[in-house]
Amino acid sequence: MALLPILRFPDPRLHRKATPVDLVDDSVRRLIADMAETMYEAPGIGLAATQVDVHKRIIVIDVSEDKSKLLTFINPEILERSGEQVCEEGCLSVPGIYEKVSRSERVRVRALDPQGKSFTLEAEGLLAVCVQHEIDHLEGKVFVEHLSQLKQGRIRAKLAKQARITA
Ligand code: NI
Repeated sequence: MALLPILRFPDPRLHRKATPVDLVDDSVRRLIADMAETMYEAPGIGLAATQVDVHKRIIVIDVSEDKSKLLTFINPEILERSGEQVCEEGCLSVPGIYEKVSRSERVRVRALDPQGKSFTLEAEGLLAVCVQHEIDHLEGKVFVEHLSQLKQGRIRAKLAKQARITA
């Protein structure tokens, strides 16, 4: 397994739309293992392949307390959504920024697992937020793009300043 470098907003590669996985083979499973290791090491609760510059529809999530419930979604699709919740979100590609975003309270998702088998999952609360946040990444959308232009401008300025300090 290997740790993968995570793209940082506003890297234009974060805006590429990911393409579906045609065949779930060992190379896909290797990528999933690397993505999980990268997410746990960061540490984070979700990671989309887009964030490691692989533009395939794959996400990993673990919202459990003890980091024991890894969920993998290949070619995820939201079948149904209901309700609304506002949750403070962060993102490994937007370090140090936490902002409230409005999303569906519940979602039903269909995806393939690492064996290529189809499953559906009902998610609510934090898991539902995380699924929607990661699927956004596959569409080339970063969570800050749900915010006002004014807020986005402030975030870009703050990140540019951080980049100068750490460069
Ligand atoms: Ni993110």
